[in-house]
Amino acid sequence: MYNCAIILAAGEGKRMKSSTPKVLHKICGREMVNIVIDVVKKAQIEDINVVIGNGAERVKTVTESRNVKYSFQDRQLGTGHAVLCADDFLRHKEGTVVIFTGDSPLIKATTIKNMLSFHNNGKYKATILTSIVNDPTGYGRIIREKNGEVLKIVEHKDCSAEELKVNEINSGMYCFHIKSLVESLNKLRNDNAQGEYYLTDIIEILKSNGEKIGALPVNFEEVMGVNSRTQLSEAEKVMRNRINRIHMENGITLIDPDTTYIGLDVTIGKDTIIYPGNVLQGDTTIGENCILYPNSRIKDSLIDNNVTVQSSVILESKIGESVTIGPFAYIRPESVIGKSVKIGDFVEIKKSTIGDKTKVSHLTYIGDAKVGKGCNFGCGTVVVNYDGKVKNKTLIGDNSFIGCNTNLVSPVKVNDDTYIAAGSTITEEVPEGSLAIARAKQVNKEGWVYKKGLKK
Ligand code: UD1
Ligand code: CA
Repeated sequence: MYNCAIILAAGEGKRMKSSTPKVLHKICGREMVNIVIDVVKKAQIEDINVVIGNGAERVKTVTESRNVKYSFQDRQLGTGHAVLCADDFLRHKEGTVVIFTGDSPLIKATTIKNMLSFHNNGKYKATILTSIVNDPTGYGRIIREKNGEVLKIVEHKDCSAEELKVNEINSGMYCFHIKSLVESLNKLRNDNAQGEYYLTDIIEILKSNGEKIGALPVNFEEVMGVNSRTQLSEAEKVMRNRINRIHMENGITLIDPDTTYIGLDVTIGKDTIIYPGNVLQGDTTIGENCILYPNSRIKDSLIDNNVTVQSSVILESKIGESVTIGPFAYIRPESVIGKSVKIGDFVEIKKSTIGDKTKVSHLTYIGDAKVGKGCNFGCGTVVVNYDGKVKNKTLIGDNSFIGCNTNLVSPVKVNDDTYIAAGSTITEEVPEGSLAIARAKQVNKEGWVYKKGLKK
């Protein structure tokens, strides 16, 4: 049986009050429309058409990697009109089309498969995914006949007082027999409260032709629509709980899942322990046996096993095995930290490589540098990488001991096995095995305080 999908994503999303098209708002780090595309693919439907209109170019750019087709709806005249715009995609196809909206991102692949089997087994011309809810406000209502068969869908704004009481809602997700849908689309009219061509009216049209309509109620959690920022946060919460549950099932300890924010593309190794307030984003991998103490943000980074992080920010970087980071460290993009390194408090590393077992314990900035193994940075070291025009490179060999409050004015090279005296401003290469002192010599003026009469 041939299946294809249409995803409606042309609307503006007025109620979001945003300059970003609604379907590009993210849930757990991924755009809603991409979440819908991905779940449709997971349900083994490959031929997918996205109807775009508002912010069409942006939606296209964001979804391009998913290899979908597009139809363009230049004026948003309603969900029925949006499907009509996908006429080229549907025409000449035989089989079933599933229709989703780009603003309902919580549907599961297993439910899509169930809907398709239900539709096929019941030989329906249309099947609606519905839900029985406590508060149906804003949703279209499923109106059934006395014998229980679906008669029509009535939009909230078009409901009579009696219809408003119905608590079975339309999820906006359907299966249609393609030919029956295409033939009915031209019969849609916009004589309703919103002056729109409603896709939901297709049900009544099919019914009046004597066709059988199916309705499959599912858990509301899967069909929640996002029309406002409040609903966006509610959907995010549902998705967050799902993600966190999967990680816990995989052997990760989350001290407080309600305050742990893990993106959809993050992977975590077993026996890692995550304390509250951590935000793991983008394409991030955390190894096994790590401890993430409270309040870090880690984005697009690769963290190896046995790493400890506390109250720090790590962006687009690689962290080696058994490293400790923080509290209050900032690892900026393109940094590579070796094994068993210590990055302590108030340390910033930018676009630098740090060799194994090096210690950068406190109050230090390292930028555009390549640092060897077994080095020790004293408190308050600064790599002076910027001369006002260009960013220069600093090279530091293995086993260098950098005294406290040293400036390394780049470009500069410090060779292996060296010592730098505290307070030095290094501007020239330090040869292997030597001690560099680059500061004014101390002068003591004896009795100076008494002679000046300054004793208190
Ligand atoms: C729609 C359904 C409603 C259902 C609800 C479920 C209709 C008429 N109503 O209402 O029965 O309970 O979803 O969430 O279908 N879109 C377009 N072009 C348009 C209009 C909308 O592409 O001209 C897209 C939007 O981008 C959005 C989706 O269709 O992704 C749904 O539109 P929206 O305006 O949010 O419909 P609802 O009022 O939520
Ligand atoms: Ca909606």
